[in-house]
Amino acid sequence: MEILVILSQEHPSLPLAELRAVLEAEKISFRIKEAGKGHAIIDAPPQAHRILKERLAYAHEVCQLLTSSGLDDSEDAFRSIHWKDIIEGSFAVRIRKLDGEIDSQELERRLGAIIKEDTGAAVDLEDPWTLIRPVLAGERFLITRRLAEITKDHFNQAKPHLRPFFYPGSMSPKLARCMVNLSGVRAGDRVLDPFCGTGGILIEAGLMGIHVIGADIDWKMVEGTEQNLRHYGITDFKVIRSDARNLKLQEPVNAIVTDPPYGISASTAGEESEKLYREFLDSAHPLLKDEGTICMAAPHYIDLEALMDERFHVREKYSIRMHRSLTRVIRVIEKI
Ligand SMILES: C[S@@+](CC[C@H](N)C(=O)[O-])C[C@H]1O[C@@H](n2cnc3c(N)ncnc32)[C@H](O)[C@@H]1O
Repeated sequence: MEILVILSQEHPSLPLAELRAVLEAEKISFRIKEAGKGHAIIDAPPQAHRILKERLAYAHEVCQLLTSSGLDDSEDAFRSIHWKDIIEGSFAVRIRKLDGEIDSQELERRLGAIIKEDTGAAVDLEDPWTLIRPVLAGERFLITRRLAEITKDHFNQAKPHLRPFFYPGSMSPKLARCMVNLSGVRAGDRVLDPFCGTGGILIEAGLMGIHVIGADIDWKMVEGTEQNLRHYGITDFKVIRSDARNLKLQEPVNAIVTDPPYGISASTAGEESEKLYREFLDSAHPLLKDEGTICMAAPHYIDLEALMDERFHVREKYSIRMHRSLTRVIRVIEKI
């Protein structure tokens, strides 16, 4: 099936990278046919939409691509579709503009009338059973049926200040989810965050059915993470107090996903963090399974590549500007 994924436009490359990583982690056979502004078209089995809805952070909707048209011949394209095979129950036509501007309301009415004439189905603009979604992408309409909506409810409810244990410096749940996805893990795998703080990354991984292990040098954080994980109904976890550089595990993990501290004072931050990061990477190697992955955030002023030896390889790298003086760099690192 041709599937159109409407991606977030918050970042130029992370949303597509996350989509690819989830499809690969879930071992879904797929091919990316097109990647454009705010969207990707993939060839994948129909059931892929369920997994994408469950896992993706930087995406809005997953739709079945029916056909495409130019801006002036969308009505002809609508007439060429056999709607009786597509419409179940009531329906509505709602255009989504990704790129470009048109008068949607008038066109939605005309397109809806074509479907109504073909099927006799009831129109329900409030809560339709089938949502027909023509997506405006520049000079084209991608005419689709929505399969799943990725609501932001979870990301709003899981904001750090709404958790039982809060401490400043927590990562947004959306980015935490995306980092877990980039690490390539799936339900049943084991993930470690050795600088777990308030547990933001572990919450996202735990909610995906991953066995989570956290460590922090500070007891307050260890207890806070446990409290937060329980709050989200996560039971398959272990949190230990340890320096990330001396951490010992009984079994290696599939991935390490982490957001280490960025340094204390501005003047010495680079130097202190470099030492910590180097020592951490050194000690992380045996904690990972063969071909395991590290997905790690670091401030832009740390040249992580220079701190790594040949046992690691940086496969992907994404910069996220936080404010004037800080850009976060997310790296996906492979154990060789
Ligand atoms: C930036 S915070 C992590 C934030 C976390 N991602 C969250 O969402 O809450 C870094 C954490 O690393 C811990 N930490 C600092 N040095 C450490 C070390 N050497 N070993 C383990 N944890 C350490 C701190 O106590 C702090 O909780």
